[in-house]
Amino acid sequence: MTNQIQIFDTTLRDGEQVPGCKLNTIQKIEIARALEELGVDVIEAGFPISSPGDFEAVRRVANAVRRPTVCGLSRAIEKDIKTAAESLEGAVRPRIHTGIGVSEMHIRYKLQTTPEDILYRAAAAVKYAKSFVEDVEFYAEDAGRADNEFLARVLEAAIKAGATVLNIPDTTGYCLPEQYGAKIKYLYENVRGIEKAILATHCHNDLGLATANSISGVIGGARQVECTINGIGERAGNTSLEEVVMILRQHPDLGYTTGINTRLLNPISHLVSEKMGVVVQPNKAIVGANAFAHSSGIHQDGVIKKRETYEIIDPLEVGVDHSKIVLTARSGRAALAYRAKCLGYNLTKDELDAVYTNFLVVADRKKEVGDEDLVEIMKFRNWEIEQEKTAHATVS
Ligand code: KIV
Ligand code: ZN
Repeated sequence: MTNQIQIFDTTLRDGEQVPGCKLNTIQKIEIARALEELGVDVIEAGFPISSPGDFEAVRRVANAVRRPTVCGLSRAIEKDIKTAAESLEGAVRPRIHTGIGVSEMHIRYKLQTTPEDILYRAAAAVKYAKSFVEDVEFYAEDAGRADNEFLARVLEAAIKAGATVLNIPDTTGYCLPEQYGAKIKYLYENVRGIEKAILATHCHNDLGLATANSISGVIGGARQVECTINGIGERAGNTSLEEVVMILRQHPDLGYTTGINTRLLNPISHLVSEKMGVVVQPNKAIVGANAFAHSSGIHQDGVIKKRETYEIIDPLEVGVDHSKIVLTARSGRAALAYRAKCLGYNLTKDELDAVYTNFLVVADRKKEVGDEDLVEIMKFRNWEIEQEKTAHATVS
C-alpha cells in the first residue's frame, strides 16, 4: 500500500456550509487556485444541483485549475449526478462524489427506507455516475455510527459498481479516535474488492476529535484525508487540513507523506479567513495568531536561547516569518531586552533593571506592551538611571 496520503480539500463545499459564509464564484476560483498551488490532490468545488450559482462556481473552478482532480457532490439521485457531471465537463480530472446514508438513524428516520434499498441505491448511483466519469467517489453518510458489517456490504456494492474512492464520513463527529481507526481497519481487512479502491476519512469536529480521528483513520489504512482550510465547516467544522499535514510531517516515524507545500499554509489560511469573513481563533494550531507567540517569562527565556525549547515547528516551515515574543506583565527581563534590541536599543544591565520597573507599571495597565509603548518607556531610561545615580550619590 502506498504511503502517500491524498489531500482532498472540501473548503469550497463542506467548508462553505458555515452559516453566512457563502463565497461567490470569483472568490471560489481564487481559493481554488491557491489550493492548487498549495498542492492538494482533490478540490471539492461544490454541490452543483444545490443552486445555479453553485453549478456555475463548480464549472468555473473545473476550468480554472489543471493539476488537481475537481470534484462535485451529489446525492444518490440521477438528476444530481447528471448535473454534477455537466458542471465538471471542463475538468482535466473530473470526479463525481455521490452517496447515501448508511446508519440506522439515517436509513430509518431520514431516508425512511430499508437497508436493502440502500444497497440498491448506492450501487445504482455509482453505476450511473460511472456512465459520465471514470473517477467516482462513494460516501457512506454517517458511517461513523453505522454497523460495520452493513457498511462493508454497502462498500462492496459500490466497488462492484465501479467506485474508485470509498469515503467513510463520521458525519456527526461522534467517534473516538480508536473507534474510527478500528472501523477503517475493519473495512480495509474485510471489504471484498477493497484493493480496487482507496478508503477516505471525512471527520467532523463536534467533539473536537476530527484531526485525531483522521490520523487514526490513516493509521488504520485510509489513503485520502478530507479536510478544510482552518477546519472550517458546518457546526464545529471539519478536519483541519493544516493540522493533518503538519502532524504527518512532524511525525516522519509514521511513514506518511503528502504533496502539500507547507510554506503556503499560513497565506492560504489568511485568504480563506478573509474571503469567508471568519476569524481564525488565535490559539488555533499552525495558523492561529498565537501559534508561534510566547508571552510568559519562562517560555520567552527558553525560546530566546533556543527556539526549539518551546516550539516543535519552525514557523518558516508553515509560512510564518518568525516566532513572536509578546510583552506582557508575565514577561521577564530576557524578553524585554530582546524586544528592545529588535527596536535598536542595546541595554546594559543597569539600564535593563531601570527600564524593567517602568515596563511592569505599563504592562500591569495594558494586556500587551507594544513597540510604541516600548519606545515611550525607553524615553525614560536615561532619566531613571540619572535619578538612581543622584539618589546613590546623596546617600553616600
Ligand atoms: O459529513 C458528511 O457525511 C458529508 C458527506 C456529504 C460526504 O459531508
Ligand atoms: Zn461532511
